[in-house]
Amino acid sequence: MLADKDRIFTNVYGYQPWGLSAAQKRGDWDNTKDILARGQDAIIEEIKASGLRGRGGAGFPTGLKWSFMPKESPDGRPSFLVINADESEPGSCKDREIIRHDPHKLIEGALVAGFAMRARAAYIYIRGEYIREAEVLFAAVQEAYDAGLVGKNAAGSGYDFDVFVHRGAGAYICGEETAMIESLEGKKGQPRLKPPFPAGAGLYGCPTTVNNVESIAVAPTIMRRGAAWFSSFGRENNKGTKLFQISGHVNKPCVVEEAMSIPFGEMIERHCGGIRGGKDNLLAVIPGGSSVPLVPAAEIWDAPMDFDGLKAVGSGLGTAAVIVMDKSTDIVKAISRISYFYKHESCGQCTPCREGTGWMWRVMERLRTGEAAVEEIDMLFQVTKQVEGHTICALGDAAAWPIQGLIKHFRPELERRIAEAGNMVEAAE
Ligand SMILES: Cc1cc2nc3c(=O)[nH]c(=O)nc-3n(C[C@H](O)[C@H](O)[C@H](O)COP(=O)(O)O)c2cc1C
Ligand code: SF4
Repeated sequence: MLADKDRIFTNVYGYQPWGLSAAQKRGDWDNTKDILARGQDAIIEEIKASGLRGRGGAGFPTGLKWSFMPKESPDGRPSFLVINADESEPGSCKDREIIRHDPHKLIEGALVAGFAMRARAAYIYIRGEYIREAEVLFAAVQEAYDAGLVGKNAAGSGYDFDVFVHRGAGAYICGEETAMIESLEGKKGQPRLKPPFPAGAGLYGCPTTVNNVESIAVAPTIMRRGAAWFSSFGRENNKGTKLFQISGHVNKPCVVEEAMSIPFGEMIERHCGGIRGGKDNLLAVIPGGSSVPLVPAAEIWDAPMDFDGLKAVGSGLGTAAVIVMDKSTDIVKAISRISYFYKHESCGQCTPCREGTGWMWRVMERLRTGEAAVEEIDMLFQVTKQVEGHTICALGDAAAWPIQGLIKHFRPELERRIAEAGNMVEAAE
């Protein structure tokens, strides 16, 4: 189990105040100037060496991403850091804990990361529904300005760096990095075609990096404690500590910082009081937020909770939002509900996603009630394959994968419902 001394987020439960003086007692903003004095390239190298991979879902190496930003502006255009606090993936609820209880970790991280990538400012895009969290964030940013930690000569470093907070209006798609950039520019939040990638032309046409809240908030601690310390947790290629968010049918749902690669069962027993009704009552788990395929009980128990461990069981770490379902769950209904979410949130730009999400949801609803033909199971699977990988952004994949997981692991249940509904029709006749 991760020892308390190795936790980055020491106020994740809000037992202490979020404000600047309490944050400083916890070690935040401690000689930030010295971190910046090490220079941009040294910071990027340290983050690379730490093995940190993006915590927003895709797991792209963070230091490498920062290194794509131009070292010098060829034409006077500034660079920007955009911090993704949209957190709309069903099951995900970690960024809000950082923001409402430990906002200075994020703001200091914005300065460290922004400086490393030679950005002029950071824009923190927070989802509209996080009203109290946004209030805390606005106030914390003001505290940082008042204390000279950001703004002109940020933290006495000689570097000028602004931090802006922008509230979204509640669209899941605005969490996709290029839709977020569009939304920040005041337009409708619809993903852009890539290339160009944001590091070439992002916000206002300027070089931009988009990072998740957690990816940014851990950066100052990595710089203070060193890459070797961070990479001492987790397996090769899956390093560091991570905020896991466990919801659903466990005795004590929680958000907890743990070492990467902790086996699923150990995490549930240690931190969540076990599965409701005991281990044998577990049906399936969605381990990385609603967009990753479910994993049946037998395969998840010993799986290491990291990028590779969950890939090996046909799923993904995503945002590490672990949705636990016991045997009381109507698994077809659960996946159908997720399909409805993606249908509702599709921005409508590409035909496979706009039409496919609605089509898939309608078939899922008929499978839920059993009023479908057995052949439709394969047809639905084929449609998910036609959507997957054929859209501008990954929302299409996110809509396809949960259904693929259901068909792969619960086909007998789908067939049973169809047979049962058929029997009922026959009996009525
Ligand atoms: C439909 C969709 C929604 C997304 N929502 C979020 C989100 O709420 N928060 C987030 O950090 N990343 C989200 N992402 C991923 C971002 O596009 C981007 O990869 C991420 O912010 C990069 O940060 P990281 O490298 O630090 O992980 C979403 C992606 C897609 C396709
Ligand atoms: S995949 Fe869906 S959400 Fe993404 S751009 Fe296309 S229509 Fe919009």
